[in-house]
Amino acid sequence: MAELTLDGVSKRYEDGTVAVDDLSLEIGDGELMIFVGPSGCGKTTALRMIAGLEEISDGELRIDGEVVNDRPPKDRDIAMVFQNYALYPHMTARQNMSFGLRQAKVDKAEIERKVKEAAETLGLTEYLDRKPVHLSGGQRQRVAMGRAIVRDPKAFLMDEPLSNLDAKLRTEMRTELARIQSELGTTTVYVTHDQIEAMTLGDRVAVLRKGLLQQVATPRELYEGPENLFVASFMGSPAINLMKATVEDERLRLPVGEVPLDRRLRDALSRTQGSTDVLVGLRPEHLFDATRADGPERGVTFTCDVDVLEAMGAEYYAYSALPDAPDDTDVTPASASGEGEQEAVGRRRGQQLIARLSIDSEVREHEQIELSFDPGRLHLFDAETGKRLTDPVR
Ligand SMILES: Nc1ncnc2c1ncn2[C@@H]1O[C@H](COP(=O)(O)OP(=O)(O)OP(=O)(O)O)[C@@H](O)[C@H]1O
Ligand SMILES: [Mg+2]
Repeated sequence: MAELTLDGVSKRYEDGTVAVDDLSLEIGDGELMIFVGPSGCGKTTALRMIAGLEEISDGELRIDGEVVNDRPPKDRDIAMVFQNYALYPHMTARQNMSFGLRQAKVDKAEIERKVKEAAETLGLTEYLDRKPVHLSGGQRQRVAMGRAIVRDPKAFLMDEPLSNLDAKLRTEMRTELARIQSELGTTTVYVTHDQIEAMTLGDRVAVLRKGLLQQVATPRELYEGPENLFVASFMGSPAINLMKATVEDERLRLPVGEVPLDRRLRDALSRTQGSTDVLVGLRPEHLFDATRADGPERGVTFTCDVDVLEAMGAEYYAYSALPDAPDDTDVTPASASGEGEQEAVGRRRGQQLIARLSIDSEVREHEQIELSFDPGRLHLFDAETGKRLTDPVR
């Protein structure tokens, strides 16, 4: 087991691409840390630098306080599990799992003991003599993990290890993986671009964007207090509703109504350096059918047309156009630039509002509905920089 420290770590590829930019992060002994972010944000590169498969351009990587920048992968005692688990097809599960140990000339009885132990942890005991072709996707994935586990490494690095599995199996394996990791107590860095996986699996989550660390926090902290618009829109499903708002006459004027400034909003607005324009986030689960009793007691109410209604089983997703929103309402902060940005921050969702409503609601498609929300649930962001202004929303 080990503590991993990244201290201002950067990666500049030969063509000048800066894939990871000044990344500083401490991963505690036994912790399950998630790296999450859109495609190309530097997750794999960061992982490969920790493994020693990619040279570190700048900064320091320490394992248990010792600088290991120049230590070759085999001397770092770190096991990596990849997306395409790459098992040897002609070997049984047992042989696949023990391959590394046999190469390292580990004592036979010792190998047997380790494989047996790992197989028990992974629920693979009865499949050990099968070849990969006779195993399900999830079982193959577990064999690949077994191969890492028997090495008893200081840390596991996993790069989207579940992405080859179908949705149901992925959910199952996610739970399984969390159980195994906590049972083994091995420091783990887990890469995914799936925010649901990140939120459900990790002790802490590091959100990356274009090589830059946006925020590192527990899933709950990320949800309640996203540092900026990017984190707010990336974490949460369906994504947070974003709208433009202005402050006038001691009130916050939103497309969905006016909110008197209370202490929390006043504090938030004092951080804008005088600007009266802000961007406001309101999560779909914080909107309620105003005719029902499950909403906030002293909520702000407004009426909108339900354009599309999706019945999700336990709840509805109701989609509406924001009242009075001009067609070109754009919630991208002024500082955002470059391709991918639009998509990442708000996807011009400024015109649309999504509400997650109880399945008991009387909501109907193409009809009007009265929605309510608690102003205490509003997240405010600086319209210029996209930075969070409000304290975490609980
Ligand atoms: N060998 C390389 N030379 C130059 N640029 C590279 C190289 N490998 C990766 N990159 C670039 O570095 C950036 C980060 O790549 P990386 O593979 O780390 O992203 P990622 O977050 O793992 O993405 P994905 O979710 O698609 O796997 C990308 O812009 C990528 O094009
Ligand atoms: Mg990758």
